[in-house]
Amino acid sequence: MALLYSGPARAFDGKNIAANGNGRDAPACSACHGEQGEGRPDAAYPRLAGLDSQYLVQQLNAFAEGKRDNETMHPIAKALTPDERQAVANFYAGLTTAVVAEPKKADDKAIAIGAALASRGDWSKGLPGCGQCHGAMGQGVGKTFPKLAGQSSEYITSQLKAWKDGTRTSDPLHLMTGIASKLDDKQVAAVAAYYATLPAAKPSTTPQGSKL
Ligand code: HEC
Ligand code: HEC
Repeated sequence: MALLYSGPARAFDGKNIAANGNGRDAPACSACHGEQGEGRPDAAYPRLAGLDSQYLVQQLNAFAEGKRDNETMHPIAKALTPDERQAVANFYAGLTTAVVAEPKKADDKAIAIGAALASRGDWSKGLPGCGQCHGAMGQGVGKTFPKLAGQSSEYITSQLKAWKDGTRTSDPLHLMTGIASKLDDKQVAAVAAYYATLPAAKPSTTPQGSKL
């Protein structure tokens, strides 16, 4: 029992922020990201469940600083203290919510093109396979390379566009800025459709069965 009392006041706070907001200017995250962090594929609200906690904190910091330029998330992230960002990130990182179905089924041809890009890339453009960094099944690797499996195609598409437009500039070494600039619209749609079909497995860095 000792474990239950030795710190997880934070975990509780994170759950409370997600469901009710922080009692000041940050609203309930669940209003957009879903009760269980499942996201809303139709509205491009990302899935937060099962993303690495440090990745989530980095994104909240980037929104607050405006390096990830988003008018919805900027005031929300700014309204959270560093401790609250960490607590709510820990809460979402621990969830293993099922993936929400896409509003429209993608065609199999697009998914096949996406799968090839994810595993092999497109060497005619100097593009590595996405899986080189994001994990072979898009499961994410550590705090740097987020999970793409189970993220909606609308959201993935919106982020690839954000790197092309220069509205998301907080990526380490500008790895994604370089990659997004090489993808044409058809490739973006295909790779986004592919990752949306994958089950949101636990991250490769987490030993199997260690949580939940
Ligand atoms: C009004 C809707 C709304 C609410 C409420 C909201 N979000 Fe968001 N959130 C968004 C949108 C839209 C995006 C995508 C932004 C973009 O395109 O860059 C996002 C993105 C994020 C991301 C980035 C995820 C990723 O994969 O990079 C994090 C982290 C996040 N939100 C955390 C939170 C937290 C924590 C709360 C509650 C304190 C919250 N959000 C409340 C709409 C919302
Ligand atoms: C060289 C390594 C590398 C490769 C290859 C790579 N990525 Fe990424 N990707 C990253 C990093 C690093 C981030 C996190 C950026 C940040 O922290 O803002 C990221 C983030 C993303 C995100 C944002 C996820 C979220 O939750 O907001 C998407 C979408 C994405 N990558 C798609 C792709 C696709 C599609 C490909 C293949 C065409 C690809 N990536 C290939 C390094 C890579």
